[in-house]
Amino acid sequence: MPEVKKVSEGIFEVVKDKKQLATKNLDPGKAVYGEKLIPVEGIEYRIWDPRRSKLGAMVLKKFDIPLKEDSKVLYLGAASGTTVSHVSDIVSEGAVYAVEFAPEV
Ligand SMILES: C[S@@+](CC[C@H](N)C(=O)[O-])C[C@H]1O[C@@H](n2cnc3c(N)ncnc32)[C@H](O)[C@@H]1O
Repeated sequence: MPEVKKVSEGIFEVVKDKKQLATKNLDPGKAVYGEKLIPVEGIEYRIWDPRRSKLGAMVLKKFDIPLKEDSKVLYLGAASGTTVSHVSDIVSEGAVYAVEFAPEV
């Protein structure tokens, strides 16, 4: 059984073979960008790859991420949604408004 430790509000470390950053999947069963989904005691965690997300890397570097369950976030430059999908998991009782202007993404 993987071990889960809380890193900060809505952000976790899942230990299964190795330590991996994760958020609780707000949409269980669905991966956004091919990330691993790991169920632990009835909760599904989505692995958050800090090599693909500056915000994820900031969490690993122990920056204070001032997001709360009920935060309302204006996310500028969402690209294809990798990081903003984890922000959405974190603010599960709040809202995320994501803005992106590139038609390709
Ligand atoms: C480095 S990518 C963002 C990656 C994303 N934040 C993530 O971590 O998954 C920067 C994005 O910002 C978008 N962008 C830049 N200027 C913008 C603007 N003025 N309005 C909306 N999106 C913009 C770009 O099109 C690009 O997709």
